Amino acid sequence: MNESQPASRIVVLPGDGIGPEIVSATQRVLDAVGEFSYEEHPIGGAAIDAHGSALPDSTLEACRGCDAVLLGAVGGPKWDTTDPDKPRPEQGLLGLRKGLGLYANLRPVKPIEALLDSSPLRRERIAGTDLLVLRELTGGVYFGRKQREPDSALDECLYSREEGERIALAAFDAARRRAGVGGPPRVTSVDKANVLETSRLWREVVSGLAAENDDIEVDHMLVDNAAMQLVSDPGRFDVIVTENMFGDILSDEAAMLTGSLGMLPSASLGDGGPGVFEPVHGSAPDIAGTGAANPLATFLSAAMMLRHGLADGEGAERIEAAVERALGGGLRTADLHTNTEDERLVGTEEMTEAVLAAL
Ligand code: IPM
Ligand code: MG
Repeated sequence: MNESQPASRIVVLPGDGIGPEIVSATQRVLDAVGEFSYEEHPIGGAAIDAHGSALPDSTLEACRGCDAVLLGAVGGPKWDTTDPDKPRPEQGLLGLRKGLGLYANLRPVKPIEALLDSSPLRRERIAGTDLLVLRELTGGVYFGRKQREPDSALDECLYSREEGERIALAAFDAARRRAGVGGPPRVTSVDKANVLETSRLWREVVSGLAAENDDIEVDHMLVDNAAMQLVSDPGRFDVIVTENMFGDILSDEAAMLTGSLGMLPSASLGDGGPGVFEPVHGSAPDIAGTGAANPLATFLSAAMMLRHGLADGEGAERIEAAVERALGGGLRTADLHTNTEDERLVGTEEMTEAVLAAL
């Protein structure tokens, strides 16, 4: 970062479970690569406890006024309920995404060499995987009309042409920017056009724009087939663009190619304004407070924050290289540990120290 620039203003939203632990570790890593000022606000269950709402107005306002938002995770058994009238931690996350207009969610999946044997898939199957799940984040069934009767329930899935267009264009841009898998940039649009009307509109929109963007190779795939191909032949994908719910599911699946859900970062971006950067994994309440959490997905999310939110690609690469070095040295948190001799089981603190040392 340019010395004369003021420190970037980051709102940190630690959230619940392991969220606070991994976010504070990430602030230490950020402080090793640049100058930042932090403002902390509650979200999720923590905000329900303190303010009765998963996304207090003060939290959303602070996010609107900052340069980037770093988020931990939300949710936990304490706030689990099937009562539609009770607040839920996830409403904080969804409200934030909608409130900041973050329609494009980037989830890059590239297994780290040192972790090729930590994946449940065989090394030769995942080697060479380098894909990006681009998930539409503010539409579809997540934000449709909901209705609940004693014996029936409804979740509406609505997509407009415009919502399809902007995410398709974001996918083409992302494909152009990626070093990718070699060859021309490729976008695979994933839908369920054999069943869903929203998917048929989606496919029509993507096909129309594909014709105008002929530097990109575009193909269409049904979501069930995509789920299968992700584990049988992940190397075939470059950018996967898909609607909100399919993206939620496929990105967890794709994350396992990297060995653990604990490795996958994400960036949620809109048209200008601050983005939200958060690990794809959840709040892991079962290990919260034990010091065992894997902080790497949050470190890598901070790298995405530098790259996509704060125009500091160099800082991003430094963090990514430091994470690879820590793993290359054999350190493994419990989620990555495979019990081989060259590995050493560590917790959040030791992993953080190793990344700081590598920096
Ligand atoms: C994610 C999470 C969220 C989602 C939950 C916590 C609401 O699973 O970011 O993938 O479904 O979007
Ligand atoms: Mg998810």
